[in-house]
This record gives sequence, structure tokens and C-alpha cells, in this order.
Amino acid sequence: MSPRLDSPGLGRREFVGLTAASLSAAWLAACGRDLVSPADAPRLARATSTRNPLRIPSVVSPSGLTLTAAPGTADLGGGQRSTAWMYNNQFPGPTIVANTGGRATIQLTNGLSQHSITHWHGMIVDYADDGHPRQAVPPGGSYAYDFTVAQRACLNWYHPHPHMHTGEQVYYGLAGAFILRDAEEAALNLPAGAYEVPLIIRDASFDSAGNLKFGSKSSGFIGTDPLVNGTRNAFLAVNKAVYRFRVLNGCNARVLRLALGSGAPFTLIGNDGGLLAAPTSVTQITLAPAERLDLLVDFRALGQNASVMLRDVGAGWDLVEFRGTGAVVTSAAIPVGPLSSITPLSGPAAPTRTFSFDGMTRINGRLYDINRIDFQVPLGTVERWRFRTNGNAPHPVHVHGASFQVQSRTGGRGQVFPWERGWKDTVLLGDSETVDVLVRFDRRGLYLIHCHQLAHEDQGMMSNFQVV
Ligand code: C2O
Ligand code: CU
Ligand code: CU
Repeated sequence: MSPRLDSPGLGRREFVGLTAASLSAAWLAACGRDLVSPADAPRLARATSTRNPLRIPSVVSPSGLTLTAAPGTADLGGGQRSTAWMYNNQFPGPTIVANTGGRATIQLTNGLSQHSITHWHGMIVDYADDGHPRQAVPPGGSYAYDFTVAQRACLNWYHPHPHMHTGEQVYYGLAGAFILRDAEEAALNLPAGAYEVPLIIRDASFDSAGNLKFGSKSSGFIGTDPLVNGTRNAFLAVNKAVYRFRVLNGCNARVLRLALGSGAPFTLIGNDGGLLAAPTSVTQITLAPAERLDLLVDFRALGQNASVMLRDVGAGWDLVEFRGTGAVVTSAAIPVGPLSSITPLSGPAAPTRTFSFDGMTRINGRLYDINRIDFQVPLGTVERWRFRTNGNAPHPVHVHGASFQVQSRTGGRGQVFPWERGWKDTVLLGDSETVDVLVRFDRRGLYLIHCHQLAHEDQGMMSNFQVV
């Protein structure tokens, strides 16, 4: 793939048309097969009145995986095409699935016109494999990763992490799920196969040709429409069964407030760092960029043609319609007992360090400097990190190199929510909130703490530290 400048906003006009109903059959025929094949035409014509099948990204192993980040054309559903930047020409990228103890050997090739490097968000790996912006490779360059998966089952994800271009590269489509499995999870017999579905939720805006349009604003990119697994107006046909949804907020800046249109609860079983100690029933969940959820939803009573909508009640969006097939199958049960034993970290009551997320660009008054190491952390020592802000939230605070446990939130929303228990690597800091976490690093190396509101990150709300 030759590196070239191919900005999705200015790309080739491959888009077919927003209002499919307005397209006559003759027009469709005249467009030729580069745009719409005759077989696609009926599907396109129905696109305004029907929803599009949710894309399920292909599953790959991290062993000997080649990942190429490059421009291409994505089908957003119903024949609506957009230029995009993609891993292996998929939007979102393939779902990487690995077992604890397994080895990842991944060759990244940069087919973009910008520097890039891929970070495995949530993976606890050494510096050389962490995708730090210092490791970014130029257009045409490549980077070889080789690490062992040494952490519990969870949903992580991967995305670019070059200095100052992360927001743009993630926006144009470079993101994918990275699922880890282990024996503890397997013993629970959770819904699997077609009953375990990744939901990568993000927002986007479109230009008049229907291509993804990025407007970088210092206050963060907020899009006009949702995409779930890269699909507009998605639906998923569901049997009478319990489903497991692996949810990622893949937005640049938007905080989601997830709920089912029926008012039924989700059974929350996990988050960023894997399973929670026990399942909890929740009807609405606030999910910041880069946070993840492991949810069970019970469709055993959903009849044929009945449907339930997954909604973002913050934006008033219908995200995915779950459409009943009426098919009765042998379903996994909803676990009622303990899921996992989580050993609480114990550490100092007073903050070891305080991080003030200042304005939209600084931590503790300082802009990110890729060459500066701001502090050192002793290996194997539990520290209390305090996050606070003087405004301009949301600041989803993310730490590389370890998972942490949220201890408290004071001010603002004033509580730790059920989805913030267990192990986390990203926590939402709202205006006038102070959040304390306990964290221990078990690997030496150079890591990052930053805001995952990607405009803030790119503008300098990021800091290097060294575990020594
Ligand atoms: Cu998801 Cu440092 O990033
Ligand atoms: Cu990360
Ligand atoms: Cu921020």
C-alpha cells in the first residue's frame, strides 16, 4: 500500500447518495458497478426505511498478525460509502482475540500520510510494545510488536497514538477491539459465538458527499450521528437468548449515556479491566471515551418482530435495534453468584501524587513534551493518585502500564458508580470532581497518563512517567 495523502474529507467521490429513495433505478444503472452493483440497488432503495445489519468485525489471532493502517473506502451500511483510514481495510479493525499467557507478534505497517504507531489500550506490556508516541513510524514505515499477554480476561482495544494526531486517526476509523480470555471467564459459560457481540460506539459527522468529516476543535470533536461497529442505523437480529455485549466508547470526546429503550436493565458483569466481583443490574450507564463495559441483555422473552433499542439518552440517539427472530435456542444463563475475586489494593490514605487537568491542554500546568519525563514511580508500590480539574471536562483520565482501582469521587457526581468498580484503566473526571485511585506498576518502563478526550490529549494534556 503506497503511502499517500488521502484525507477522507477530500477524498474521491464514491458516495452514493444520502436519500436513497430519491435515486431512480435509471440513475443507479447509469452510475455503473463502481458505485452500486445491480444486486445492491434494492438494498440501497430500502435503506431509508430499514436499518442496516450491524457489522461484526472479523476475528483474528495476534500471533503472526499483520496490521496495515491505510486509507480506503468503508461501507457504513445500506451502500453508504465513505473514505476512511482503516486497519486491514476494515472499519472498525478486526477483533483481535488472545488468551492469557499467549504471545502477540504483530507487524504494523503505516500506510498513512502521517506518522503513526498503534497502542494496545488496556494491555499491560513493556515500553517497547506500548505504542508510545516516541515509537511512531513515518509513512511507509513499520513496527514489530512481540509481547506475552499477562493479564486477566477483558475487553481492550487498539488505536493509533502518534503525537498530536491521535484524535484525527481514531476519528477516521483506526480502532479495533482486543479481547482477552482466560480460564476464570471460561468457567462462567457466558454467552459465546454469535451471542457475544462487540459494540464499538462512536459519533461522526459527514460532508455533503457522505464522507466522514473531521472538525478538530480544541473543545473536542462532537459528531452529529452515531456509528456502531462502523454501521449507521444498525440492527442486530437476536434469538430468544441472553446476549453478551462488549461495549467500547470509541468517540473522540462524547460521553455516552446508555440505556435500553424498553427501560429494562442491563446486567453489568465487567468493565475495562475485566470481570467485576459480582453482576449488578443497572438501567443507565455513563460511559466516557475509551471506557469499556461487559453487559448481558436478556432477550429470552423477545418475540418475533418485537424489538428493543439500545439508546444514548444523552444525545437522544437510537444506537442499535435488537430485533427479535422469535427463535428459541438453548441460552446461557445470567450468572447470579460471584464472577471473580478481586483483591482490593491497599495503599496510602493521602495522595501520593495529584494531577490537575488544567484547561484543555495541560496537566499540572504543563503541556506534554515528548522528550520530558515528568515523574518517576517506584516499581511494585501501591500509590494513591488524585485527579482533579478546574473545568473543561469531560476528562477521561487514562493510565498506561497498569490497571487501577477507583477509591472515591468527591464533588460533581460525588460517587463511584457500579461500572467503576474492579479494575479500570480509564476513569471519567467531570467538572469540579476529584477522583482518587490506587495503582501499582509491576513493570519498569516509560508510560503515559493522559486525558482520553482526544483533542485534549493531542493538545498536550498528557505526561510521561518512568517506572523505576
Ligand atoms: Cu487509548 Cu494512551 O490511549
Ligand atoms: Cu492506553
Ligand atoms: Cu481532558
